[in-house]
Amino acid sequence: MSAKKPVKPEGDEPVGDGRDPVARAEELRALIAYHNDRYHRLDAPEIADAEFDALVRELRSIEADHPDLAVPDSPTATVGAAPSTLFAPVVHRVPMMSLDNAFSGEELQAWADRLAKQIPADTAFVCELKIDGLAISLTYVDGGFVQAATRGDGRTGEDVTANVATIGAIPSRLRPEVGPPPAVIEVRGEVYMPVSAFEDLNRRQAEAHERLFVNPRNSAAGSLRQKDPSITATRALSFWAYQVGELTATRGGRRGSDDDAALPPELTTSQSKTMDWLGRAGFPVNPERQVVHGLEEVLAFCRRWEESRHDLDYEIDGVVVKVDDLAQQRRLGSTSRAPRWAIAYKFPPEERSTELVDIEVSIGRTGKATPFAVLQPVFVGGSTVSLATLHNEDQVRAKDVRPGDTVMVRKAGDVIPEVVGPVLSDGHRRRPAWTFPTHCPVCGGPLVRLPDESDTFCTNLDCAGQRVQRIAHFASRSAMDIEGLGEQRVQLLVGHGLLVDVADLYSFTPATFEGLEGFAELSIANLLGAIGASRDRPLSRVLIGLGIRHLGQVGSLALARALGDIDAVMGADEESLAAVEGVGPVIASSVVRWFGSDVNRSVTERLRAAGVNMVEPGAGSTGGSAVRAQTLAGRSVVVTGTLEGLTREEAEGAIMARGGKSPGTVSKKTFAVVVGESPGASKVTKAEQLGVPLLDAEGFASLLETGGLPAGD
Ligand code: IVH
Repeated sequence: MSAKKPVKPEGDEPVGDGRDPVARAEELRALIAYHNDRYHRLDAPEIADAEFDALVRELRSIEADHPDLAVPDSPTATVGAAPSTLFAPVVHRVPMMSLDNAFSGEELQAWADRLAKQIPADTAFVCELKIDGLAISLTYVDGGFVQAATRGDGRTGEDVTANVATIGAIPSRLRPEVGPPPAVIEVRGEVYMPVSAFEDLNRRQAEAHERLFVNPRNSAAGSLRQKDPSITATRALSFWAYQVGELTATRGGRRGSDDDAALPPELTTSQSKTMDWLGRAGFPVNPERQVVHGLEEVLAFCRRWEESRHDLDYEIDGVVVKVDDLAQQRRLGSTSRAPRWAIAYKFPPEERSTELVDIEVSIGRTGKATPFAVLQPVFVGGSTVSLATLHNEDQVRAKDVRPGDTVMVRKAGDVIPEVVGPVLSDGHRRRPAWTFPTHCPVCGGPLVRLPDESDTFCTNLDCAGQRVQRIAHFASRSAMDIEGLGEQRVQLLVGHGLLVDVADLYSFTPATFEGLEGFAELSIANLLGAIGASRDRPLSRVLIGLGIRHLGQVGSLALARALGDIDAVMGADEESLAAVEGVGPVIASSVVRWFGSDVNRSVTERLRAAGVNMVEPGAGSTGGSAVRAQTLAGRSVVVTGTLEGLTREEAEGAIMARGGKSPGTVSKKTFAVVVGESPGASKVTKAEQLGVPLLDAEGFASLLETGGLPAGD
């Protein structure tokens, strides 16, 4: 039975706001039942996990203040959702419980204080990663796999045996090295989809013009709960075991009875020994688990993984802390829904739902028209997000997001905020699908999408939108570094007709700014000083500033160093440009095309005439050889963030082409970390802790060339 959508909630107002607690508790129960059903049975959640947790917390708090309102079937006392009718029901002989949550160190401390009343304060805990997948129970009779079931409502789950049998990581028999198998052993754990497999799956979905999956958990759940197991077989699902449920030594015997003697002793001793045994029996057990003593060590484990969660190829949403000793676990017992001997420490949310107010299009310096989402501001992943790129027309279509939708927004670690997709509730009328505008929002010129390209362009070179972006890019820190000339000022100057192209900057005088708002005498003097100083930048910075498509920091530096001055760059043909290390055929053809334009040549000449330096100091020839010198043989160089003009894959490819390795994580063996725009905080912090040198784009170019670190590092 599906839960009916309750009346739209008035929000997550905390209790104590004067509202009738009886009515609010009832409303919360209806909402929680509805969202439970969407998450567990339909695999189509409408709100983020953190928002669901907030509803449960509010209800729990009302029930604590008004114990008379607590009812036995309250969602605070039950688990999951009733199983669907798609699969045969399976009754769990040992109920599959849920976990209580802690959202802060204080809440973990309160849990440990409660335990200390019943078990020794110095007891051992096992800290495990909380895998964000779906709970599965696997039954083995006489060592052979016979049945798999979902958790369902904890008492009855769904029979997904045929689907689970397609998951390669799940053994069909227990390995003989663990000795004679128990008559019945039920192994519980989490089925998940690795992040890389999720990304591949979504790439394939996009190519086939199919709907994209929202996140790895959802795609794991959707892949497993397929009527046709051959579809499950095509999805790269995996499994981590974390618990033993039913356990019988001989038929009719049970754990905790006299038959214990006939069971493998590890399974009746502790969680940590159980995990070791499961590993030996052939189950994947997560290697990051750790036995610790005292809350300080628990907190250190939680903090470490909160920082490093994105270094893993699977998603985790917290840490599960368990009392290690099974006898102590039995003494502590359970409530109706969760054991007292374990708790889930939940990380701050990285996904939140919010309203997609509108979809607008911005014009970049190359004329590229990029759609972006205007969002009702939402605090997620540590900052408030109100805008998020939607990349291109195909992405908007694949995600099928429309103005007015409630959408899921994700900001994970160092990744830029992303609209994952709409959350669609039954019966909600949506606006029509968004269509890409046909005309540039800035200049009104036509927007053109070339066949076989995913990007759309404003082709009007006089477009003020492009002009502003081109000039702001020229003045930006990675190019000519003109302090005080940001996008807003450029927009003002372009709007007043005072600035048409970058060469105009060098004819500015104090009179230029007369009557303009926001330019006091001192700031004019500073700006003119900064423009003047930019004349001395090396050629590589000028090349970056010209904004030639595909030519970023690394390529500009390589060209400037190899060719030495602007005349050599302008005079080179495609072949000789492409032969320069760090420059491929794509950049070479783009450079030739750019200097082939009279307008671009004339701007370059006017810059030269204005006294802008067009030479690279200390340049010498480095180009020419097809086989790259193995400057990084045996070295490991990690790349984080984006380097202009170079995708992550290209940067890693450049490292490998020189004999090096480029792993995803920083360790003491890392030779250097290359830090681009929006780098991963955890990688940078780790490098700093380990004393691994950090390099910018310039340092990276020199590392590729020489294999050495810039002086001073
Ligand atoms: S132990 C009595 N260990 O988290 C419940 N659960 O929010 C025993 N989960 O239902 C569960 N990683 O699906 C345990 N290392 C781990 C886990 C884990 C993920 C899931 C599991 C559970 C849910 C509770």
